[in-house]
Amino acid sequence: MVDKKTVYVGMSADIIHPGHLNIIREAQKLGRVIVGVLTDSAIASYKRLPYLTYEQRSLIVEHLKGVDEVIPQTTLDYVPNLEKIRPDFVVHGDDWKEGVQKETRQRVIDTIAQWGGKVIDVPYTKGISSTQLNVKLKEIGTTPDIRLKRLRRLIEAKPIVRICESHSGLTGLIIENTFVEVNGVKREFDGMWSSSLTDSTSKGKPDIEAVDLTTRLHDLNDALECTTKPVIFDGDTGGKIEHFVFTVRTLERLGISAVIIEDKIGLKKNSLFGTEAIQTQDSIEGFCEKIRVGKKAQITDDFMIIARIESFIAGKGLTDAMQRALAYIKAGADGIMIHSKDKSGEDIKSFCLELRKVNKYIPIVVVPTTYNHITENELASWGVSVVIYANHMLRSAYPAMVNTARSILTYGRSYEANDLCMPVKEILELIPGTK
Ligand code: SPV
Ligand code: MG
Repeated sequence: MVDKKTVYVGMSADIIHPGHLNIIREAQKLGRVIVGVLTDSAIASYKRLPYLTYEQRSLIVEHLKGVDEVIPQTTLDYVPNLEKIRPDFVVHGDDWKEGVQKETRQRVIDTIAQWGGKVIDVPYTKGISSTQLNVKLKEIGTTPDIRLKRLRRLIEAKPIVRICESHSGLTGLIIENTFVEVNGVKREFDGMWSSSLTDSTSKGKPDIEAVDLTTRLHDLNDALECTTKPVIFDGDTGGKIEHFVFTVRTLERLGISAVIIEDKIGLKKNSLFGTEAIQTQDSIEGFCEKIRVGKKAQITDDFMIIARIESFIAGKGLTDAMQRALAYIKAGADGIMIHSKDKSGEDIKSFCLELRKVNKYIPIVVVPTTYNHITENELASWGVSVVIYANHMLRSAYPAMVNTARSILTYGRSYEANDLCMPVKEILELIPGTK
């Protein structure tokens, strides 16, 4: 009996549709079908994180008719798996002849040619598009459980997770839907930061924990209703330990992925005042206790309590910050946020490098409002896991609104301001269901 030929098919398999089944059917005609299911990190390197986890996706593919074996494909590049398997054929939809995937295809052709392998391009199944299905999925929305788990998955899958501040349904929608294409790769925000500064400012209140949790969550619900991306909640100081227990439970129930609490006590003032305001840090033991009690209060394993170190803000140095980081991690913190208002970013860099020497995995979160010249790639090279653009939706909206107000006042009509505004047609079409 002649040995069966080996056929390799790579797929994300997030939303299985007849197009996938057609490819497997064609592959099956050629031999034994091995499907390489792309891992979360392979997919996140060029597009949005899939809805289903790798385990769920590979389980589904294993049970598809015609599939003989499933293995992980850990990079967008097929070559590592191809060299391992040395398939006689690689089967793919012919859509990869164009666009970003063109280069991937060429590398596959060149690699398998070494042992006489051939690429088979199956005509793309008409009338089905994963992009369209993704739009439909967004309309369906998400569940608190799926949303909550997403942050940990993103941190695992991406070199750096990109978060932007949202303080309303509208800013939530901007973060959910805005994307750009850079060198053929789609770039978008991974999630939202519910900021105490912008939540307070948008209510005309100071950022001193004067807007209570119930009010902030009431407003956050608007963004939760019209988005699917994960949320990191700015929990200020976390308040009294006895109250923090309820905060954790409430956030977790809503599907918030993480709360960040800062190690300050007394009347909280915004960190960007630095030493211009009185910034009193909690004792290490006091803050560790808050972390421990919070961790005990949560129900799932997925919710994250991230400890925010205010040593640099309070005028202290690296030694204090490091001592606190190690103690907070030991107390159970799921991540460390290190903050500074220094413009150089040097203090943050030295902290990250120092912490990474002793701990490779604890997620590090930074908020580069003042050291904003540092790029995401640089931050990632320091070992940063999550970058938060903490106030930029509100800070950009405010001057635009003031300009419009001034124009109307100056001219006694809105004609001159019209070009500063989005067209009426656009606002009517912005929110689905307005018509
Ligand atoms: C916030 O956005 O409310 C923050 C970050 O806590 S900062 O304003 O820099 O303190
Ligand atoms: Mg804050």
